[in-house]
Order: sequence, then structure tokens, then C-alpha cells
Amino acid sequence: MQGTYDFGLIGLGVMGRNFILNVADNGYKAFGYDLDHSQVAALKAEGHPDQVDATSDIVTFTKSLRTPRKIMLLVPAGKIVDQVIESLLPHLDKDDIIIDGGNSFFTDTDRREENLKEKGIHFFGSGVSGGAKGARRGPSIMPGGNKEAYQHVKPIFEAVSAKYKSEPCVAYLGPKSAGNYVKMVHNGIEYSLMQLTSEIYDLMKKSVGLSNAELHGVYSTWNSGRLQSFLVEITAEIFTQKDTLTSGDLVDMILDKAKQKGTGKWTSQNAMDLGIPVPTIDMAVSMREISALKEERVLADQLYSRPQPIDISKEEMIAQAEQALYFSFIISYVQGLNQLEVASREYGYELDMAVIAKIWRAGCIIRAELLADIADAYTAKPDLANLLLSPAFVGKVQGTMPAVRGLVAYAVQSGIPVPGLASALSYFDAYTSSNLPLNLIQAQRDHFGSHTYERIDREGIFHTEWGSQ
Ligand code: 6PG
Repeated sequence: MQGTYDFGLIGLGVMGRNFILNVADNGYKAFGYDLDHSQVAALKAEGHPDQVDATSDIVTFTKSLRTPRKIMLLVPAGKIVDQVIESLLPHLDKDDIIIDGGNSFFTDTDRREENLKEKGIHFFGSGVSGGAKGARRGPSIMPGGNKEAYQHVKPIFEAVSAKYKSEPCVAYLGPKSAGNYVKMVHNGIEYSLMQLTSEIYDLMKKSVGLSNAELHGVYSTWNSGRLQSFLVEITAEIFTQKDTLTSGDLVDMILDKAKQKGTGKWTSQNAMDLGIPVPTIDMAVSMREISALKEERVLADQLYSRPQPIDISKEEMIAQAEQALYFSFIISYVQGLNQLEVASREYGYELDMAVIAKIWRAGCIIRAELLADIADAYTAKPDLANLLLSPAFVGKVQGTMPAVRGLVAYAVQSGIPVPGLASALSYFDAYTSSNLPLNLIQAQRDHFGSHTYERIDREGIFHTEWGSQ
């Protein structure tokens, strides 16, 4: 039985096992590999003996695959990816394909792709989003690498991916690390949407005291409207979960310290390197960092008094909150897509924004009905510099303004932190201002450092001996 399997998968943890079973469900024969015998046994125990097999022996694994071999890695990002590639290399042939499905840092992908190209092996950095359930039932997949080699992978990825109205949520995104980069920014947007969803929950709880049952109702209602999205859907569900260790609700028993694996931070760091403003994503990363300072926060809470929340009706709070969440979700996509647009030019990815918005419409963590509108906006105007310049979005955003401003003012006066929402509004206000006070910064720079400035009324570079007249 050599060389009859269509697809190989290395790393049979929950994600890998689910992904390989998904491949098998779609009629492809798949072979798994894991050094851990218990993971191999766990996959075999799932059944599908005609379609799926697994081993801890690299020779058996590579010999079982049809050439050109298509081998996907679902292992933790970092050194382990290099180690797996090293162990595979002696057993591969020219034109075989390795696909890294983890959240690898994009420059690592560029390095691996370059090295493997010299050896005649095609390497794909391919983000996979949707968690364990997505891997089993249909994730959103973001592959980047050699376009010709992708044709071998395409039918399998299109079969296993999530579908939005029967369109597969996978597409070839671009050369080199395009796929990993898009997945990184997906995660930056994910951080932002999660932070905003949490701030709005906090506001509704602290201002008008909505119970978890009421919060469930609010988020459920929102999920059947324009805010329809995976994160709003699971938020509604979270408020119904009972705690098994006490008589309360689980959400109230969870410590308010958010962990992170780094992809949101990478998005912010690289945006800063490229000079792209993504303040709401930055703020979402900072809030995870502030959340980690639990002990200091408790101490500081005792040192400073805060105002009582101002009176507001439940109806008004919920109505404003819906508009604020819709507005700030839009701003999160605006910032992330803007980063992709600039990065595409900088790194030569040739990204198509409409395609990216389309493959995010189902399967991934940031899937949302709003992405269909975003895809339409980029289809209508592929060279859109910023989604806020799309005529279709002017009306959507403008309509939310009174509520957003009202709610941010309310939160500030009531001492309820809304850094994500406030940053989204400030980004919007700055981006839509034809005049900003940065003329003063230029004057200061020239005053203390002779850094020169430009003028509004004539071309050229100017310097002034300040205070000399
Ligand atoms: C996805 C997710 C996933 C990510 C987790 C955890 O698209 O399925 O983005 O890739 O690893 O969401 O991320 P943090 O631990 O950084 O929150």
C-alpha cells in the first residue's frame, strides 16, 4: 500500500485530528503522522480505516503519500516547525509540497520558503481559522506560496473549507508569506472585536445592571441583525453557561486576566514598523496586558474613587450599545484591512481585499455578516485606500455617530473604561479631519531640532530661527 494517500498531516492534536477527518469526509485518503503514539491511536480509533491511517514512522508516512506529496503541518509555531521540516526533507522528492497550517511569524515563513525552494520543495504558509470545530466542519483557510503548486492543493482545500452560500472560504492569497500575514492580521482584528464585545458587556452591566440572562437576550437579538457574527453568537451562549463548581454563572467565576499567544501583538508591532495606524488593535493588545496586572489593579482601585454611573434607561443603553458595537466592529476591519493593503505593497503580496473579505465570511473567528458588505465595497472599488472612503460605508458609519459619541461620553463620565471604543472613535475623528494640530508638532520639531517643516501655501522645505524676530 504505497503512494495511494492524497494528503498527509503532521501533528495529530485536536486541530490536526479534526482537520484530517474533515479531509477524509470529503473523499480524500489522508495519512497522519505524530511522534506521540497515543495521538496516532486516537486518530485510528475514530474509524474511517479505508480513508485514514496514521503512524509514528516518518518513512511509512512519506512512502504512503501520492506524489507530489501534499503534507500539512499542524504543530505549534516556532522551532518545532523547522525540526519537522528537517526530519521530512530526506524523504521528500522534488515538487513535493509542505503546508504550515499554524500561526507562524511571517518572516519565518519567508525564510523557510526560500530555503525549501532551493531544494525543489514548495512551502506554503497557510493560516487556518475556526478552532477545533472549524477544523472538523470547515475552517477558513488562508494559503500563500507558489501559485502553480497551489493548484495541487486547491481541490482538497476547497472541499474541506467552510462555505459561504456554497462559495469556499479559501483562496490563493499571494506569494511568500502572504497567507501567514493575512492570518496574523485576522487575529489582530479578532483581538479588537473581542475587546469591544467585552467593553460593551461591561458598560451594560455596570450602567443598568443587566443580568446574564438579559445579556444573553441582548447579544442573541444582535446576532440576528446587522451584528450577526461568530463572536456575538458565542458571547450570547457564554451568558447561559452555568458553573459546575458553584451555583452561579460560569462567566462571573472567570478571572479577568486575558492570556495571549502573540499574534495580536505581532499585528501591532508590524503595523508600527510599516507606519500604519491600527490603534484599536493596539489597544486590544494593551488591554490584555493591563488585565494581567490584577493585583496592582485591585490596589489602585482602593486608592482612587470613581464616579457613580450616570442614570440611563435600559432601552437607551442597549440601543446605543448596539450602534457603538456596530461602528467599532467596522473600524476594526477598517484598520486591519488598511494594514493588509499597505503590507501588500510593501512585501509584494498582491493581495486582493475583496477575496480576503470573502474567505472571512464563514469558518473563521472574525466571520460576520458585515464582511459581505466589505467584500462588495472592495469589489466595487478594488483600489480603495480605506474602507471609510467607500460610499457604501459612509451611510453605515454616519448613522451611528450620535449614539457612539453619546456612549463614549457616558462611559467617560461614569468612569467605565472603554479604551477600544474610544480609540475607534478617535481614529475615526482623526482620519476624517482635514485639519489636525500636527502643524504645532512640526513647529516644535523645527524649534528645538531644526527638523524643518513644509508650508500650506507654497512648495519647499523651510526652517525658522524661532524667537528671533
Ligand atoms: C483562529 C484563532 C487561533 C488563535 C486563538 C488564540 O483563527 O482560529 O485566531 O488561531 O490561536 O484565537 O489566540 P490568543 O491565545 O492569542 O488569544
